[in-house]
Formats: sequence, C-alpha cells, structure tokens
Amino acid sequence: EKAGYKHFMLKEINEQPRAIRDTTLGRVSLETGKVFLAEMQISEQEFKDATQITIAACGTSWHAGLAGKFMIERLARLPVDVDYASEYRYRDPIADSKGLGLLITQSGETADTIAAQKELIAKGSKTLAICNVVGAAVSREAQGTITTNAGPEIGVASTKAFTAQLTALFLFALYLAQVRGTITEAQSRELVDELSKVPGKVEEILRSIDDQCCTLAKSFSTARDFLFLGRGIHYPIALEGALKLKEISYIHAEGYPAGEMKHGPNALIDETLPVVCIATKDPNDPSSVLKYEKTLSNIQEVTARSGRVIAVAINGDDQIGQLVEHVIHIPQAPELLLPILEVVPLQLLAYHIAVRRGCDVDQPRNLAKSVTVE
Ligand code: F6R
Repeated sequence: EKAGYKHFMLKEINEQPRAIRDTTLGRVSLETGKVFLAEMQISEQEFKDATQITIAACGTSWHAGLAGKFMIERLARLPVDVDYASEYRYRDPIADSKGLGLLITQSGETADTIAAQKELIAKGSKTLAICNVVGAAVSREAQGTITTNAGPEIGVASTKAFTAQLTALFLFALYLAQVRGTITEAQSRELVDELSKVPGKVEEILRSIDDQCCTLAKSFSTARDFLFLGRGIHYPIALEGALKLKEISYIHAEGYPAGEMKHGPNALIDETLPVVCIATKDPNDPSSVLKYEKTLSNIQEVTARSGRVIAVAINGDDQIGQLVEHVIHIPQAPELLLPILEVVPLQLLAYHIAVRRGCDVDQPRNLAKSVTVE
C-alpha cells in the first residue's frame, strides 16, 4: 500500500505532480485562461463587492494561507488577513457581511478551524473552504468548497495536501481577479498556461534532487538547530520547511523573514548552524529580481559569520554558487507559483534527515493526523 516506497511520506511527496494536476483539472480553460469553481452559494457579485478576506487555518494549512495572501493581494487587489485559527475567536475579531472567510484545512475536521469558521459566520461573513476531504465538517457549514484532489494523506506530516492547497489558492486568486477585473485575458491565459506546467516541473525536481537531498542529510543530520530564510511569498515556505524538519526529525528549526535577521537572529549564526535560504526568482519579474538581490545580501551576512548555507535557487543561476556551500536547483516559474516548487526540496531534506536519525517519519511522537480538540 506504500507502492514500493519506504514510507507514506515519501510516497506522498512523489504523488505531488498528480495531486497538483488533479486539483487543476476541470477548473481551467487553457484556451481562454478562465477559471471555473464549483457551484457555491456566494455569487459573482458578492465576490466583486467583498472588501476583505480573512483566512483562518492551522499549521501547514496556515502556511498555505500566508502564501495565498500574496496571490490574492497581487492578482485580485483585495486585502487579506491571515489568522491562526487557534487564536481567531479569542480577540473579538472584526468581521462582517462584506468580508469573506476562507478556511484552509486538509482534514476539514480541525477543531480550531471549525471554531474560527463559527465565529466568522456569527459575525455575518460567508465562508468558503479549501479542503481535501469531501463532506468534511468544514464544508457542511461553508457556502462553498474548493476541494483539493490530493487523495488521502496518511503521513502525519502534510506534503501533497500542502502543494494542492497552494494550487487551489492560486486558482481562487485567479478566479477573484477575473471576477473583479483586476487582470487581463492575456495575463490569465499566461498564468493558466504556467500553472499547467507546474506538475511537470515538480516531476523534474523529484527526479533531479532526491540524491542531493540524501547527501545533504548525511552532512547535516547531527545539527542541533536549523534556520530557514525567505522573503515575500517565499517566507511562508521557509516556515513550512522549518515545520517539516521539526515535526519529523525533532531538530529545532525556525523560519524567519530574511530581512529580519539583522534585527536579532544574526547573533545565532556560527559555523555549526545550517541556514536554508530560499533564493529563487522569476527573471521576468522586476519585483521578484529585486527581492532576490536583497536576499543575496542577507545570505552574505550569514556566510560572513561562517553559517553553512544551503540555498534553493532556480536553474541557470550561476551567481549564487559562488556565494554558498550548497545549491539546490529548481526550474523557474512565475513568482506566485515558485512556492509549489521550492517546498519540494525542503520536504525531501526533512525526510532524509529524519530517516538518518532513525525517526518514525510517518508517525512522529506526540502528534495526531487530525486535531479534533481545541
Ligand atoms: C503539519 C501538519 C499540521 C496540520 C494542521 C492542520 O505537517 O500536518 O500542522 O497542517 O494540524 O490540519 P488540517 O489542515 O487538517 O486542518
């Protein structure tokens, strides 16, 4: 039932091309660039009139939400708040009928996420769910659900559900942009075309970097702490990389916005500290290139203090290899789609480190797949 893989987690990491494809399938037209979401009880007019979106989720799903904020704000120009579902209802949050609630949950049963949804509904907001389980609790209360078709996820550490959530969020952002008229037809066609290339690119990553991650795991599996850095939409992926490593290898890890290092955490850096830096860019997007250049200077601050950098960069980036010890190369993509690609090496790195440390990767200690208590 593990289809020849040693662990469910590895099987599920390898299922990501299919999960992303199945989440996209039937929801886009390559010809027109149009996005179609399933029937829901939220009208186009309501999407047009919405003044704000509140995303609430936990753990990995919350990381997807953080990335989703960049997608929705950039494409649909609609302000997005991202909350920990476990915090949301404890502060008398501001929500109303003009705002829209978006719950992201693999299981659809996470108690805190359901409680946040109840709070949103009580304050008059309609809610939409991104969920991997058909008929789950979250969908029963929601006015609409975008199902991530990742298939059942057995490993406690979420992998394919996460990349499927990012895919669903990208589709939702694009849909909103089309309804609200913040994007041209040509841009839509281009982005849908790029999305359709993502599964193939993930396949390419899986083929090309598994050995490298295995080798890196050999050198770094005895580290006591890890840092993961990223900027902009890559910051949530740094958080996700750190969470994957913590939960399955029990190594302390922290995700940090690259530009915040000089405001404190630089004090942690020494020759024993591995620092994973997401340093990707879309060469066709000036704002992405600018961010990349700033991240390069942050990397130099780490290497100047003898920190051991593992960078994730795009194919053809020869500049970065001169700055750091290790580079993991991935294919290039538009900025908003890069997270789906760059998380894959971080999943594999965490997996191989955990295996080397003899950890039970599919069932880490103290954790449950579905958290049904608040
Ligand atoms: C981490 C992980 C958890 C879940 C979180 C929310 O790998 O799986 O952090 O993401 O418990 O679960 P769902 O998405 O089912 O609401």
